[in-house]
Amino acid sequence: MAKITYVEFGGTEHVIDVPTGRTVMEGARDNNVPGIDADCGGACACSTCHVYVAPEWVEKLTPIDPMEEDMLDFAYQPDPARSRLTCQIKVTDALDGLVVNLPEKQI
Ligand code: FES
Repeated sequence: MAKITYVEFGGTEHVIDVPTGRTVMEGARDNNVPGIDADCGGACACSTCHVYVAPEWVEKLTPIDPMEEDMLDFAYQPDPARSRLTCQIKVTDALDGLVVNLPEKQI
C-alpha cells in the first residue's frame, strides 16, 4: 500500500491509498481522480495517463522502458525530466508518499 497524491492542474489534491500491485493509473481511475483518462486501459498504447512526477521522486521510480518513452512523445507537453505514463508504474510500499502532477489536459 502506498499513499499517492495526485495534484490536478488547478491545484486540487487527491490523496489515495493505492494497493501494492496496482498501477498509479489504476489508483487514480478506480478512485475517480479527474485528469487521468487511461483510454487504452493500461496497455501503454495511448498516453492519456500522462503525469509529471514530483522531482524528488523521479529517480525512485523504475526506469522508463523504450515503449513508454515512445508513447510519451504523443502526450500533451511532455517534460523529458519528469513525464511518465502512470499505467507503467507499479505500486509498491516504496512509493508511499509519491506525488504526481496532472497535465493541463490529456491527448
Ligand atoms: S492507459 Fe494508455 S498508455 Fe497508460
